[in-house]
Amino acid sequence: MSRAKKPKGFVGRFLARGMALGHISFYKNAAKALNLQPDDKLLEIGFGSGLFIKTYASHVSRIAGLDYSEDMVNLASSINKELIKLGKAEFKQGDVSTLPWRDNEFSAVVGIETFFFWPKPEAGLEEIFRVLAPEGKLVLEMAYNKDDGKDHTKDRKKFDFTLYGGEEMRTLLKQSGFRDISIKYYKSMWIPFKGYIVPKGMVVNAKKPKN
Ligand SMILES: C[S@@+](CC[C@H](N)C(=O)[O-])C[C@H]1O[C@@H](n2cnc3c(N)ncnc32)[C@H](O)[C@@H]1O
Repeated sequence: MSRAKKPKGFVGRFLARGMALGHISFYKNAAKALNLQPDDKLLEIGFGSGLFIKTYASHVSRIAGLDYSEDMVNLASSINKELIKLGKAEFKQGDVSTLPWRDNEFSAVVGIETFFFWPKPEAGLEEIFRVLAPEGKLVLEMAYNKDDGKDHTKDRKKFDFTLYGGEEMRTLLKQSGFRDISIKYYKSMWIPFKGYIVPKGMVVNAKKPKN
C-alpha cells in the first residue's frame, strides 16, 4: 500500500509533515468552500498530519477527525495536544465506511486528498450523510482528478488511487442523498519551467437536504 494512502512509521510521519506543507493551498481551497462559522462542528476524514485541524480549529466550535492510519492519529494528536486538552478536538482511528459518531452530529465534513483512496466510496459518502446534520455541508478536495487533462498512469501506480471526474462525483453524491452539488476547479503549485503541477484541482461541494 502506498505511503500516501496509509502513512506508516517514521518515514510515513516525516512524509505526512512534508505533505501538509505542500498541501497548504489545498487546505485554503477547501476552507474557502467550507465557509466555516463559529458554531460549526467540523469533521475531517483522512486528516494525515492534522495540520488542517490545527489551522482551522479557531474558526469552529468543535472539531473531530478520523484517519485509518494509527500513526497519523498519534501524529495529529501530538500536533494538536493543546486542543485535545481543552476538549475542543478529538482524533479517532478507523475507516470512513464506519464512522464512530451518532447521526446528525456535525454541521460540516471535509476530506482533503483522501476520497480517491477510499476502497468503498459509496459507503463512505453514506456514513458522512448519516453523521451530517440537515443542511450540513460536505467538501471534498482532489488535486488530481479525471478532468485535469494529465496522464496519471505513473501516479496511479505510485499512489494506488482511483481518479474521479466532476460528473462522476455528482452522480455518487446524488445517489447518497446529497443536494446543491457544485464542482469548482483551481490551479496550484507553480514550478519554474514546469508550470502548474496541479493544473485543475477539484473542490466538490454538497449539502445534506433539510428533510
Ligand atoms: C494523502 S493523505 C492526506 C492527508 C491530509 N488530508 C493532507 O492533505 O495533508 C491521505 C490520508 O487519508 C487517509 N485515508 C485513506 N483512506 C482512508 C479511509 N478509507 N478512511 C479513513 N482515512 C483514510 C490516510 O491514512 C492518509 O492519512
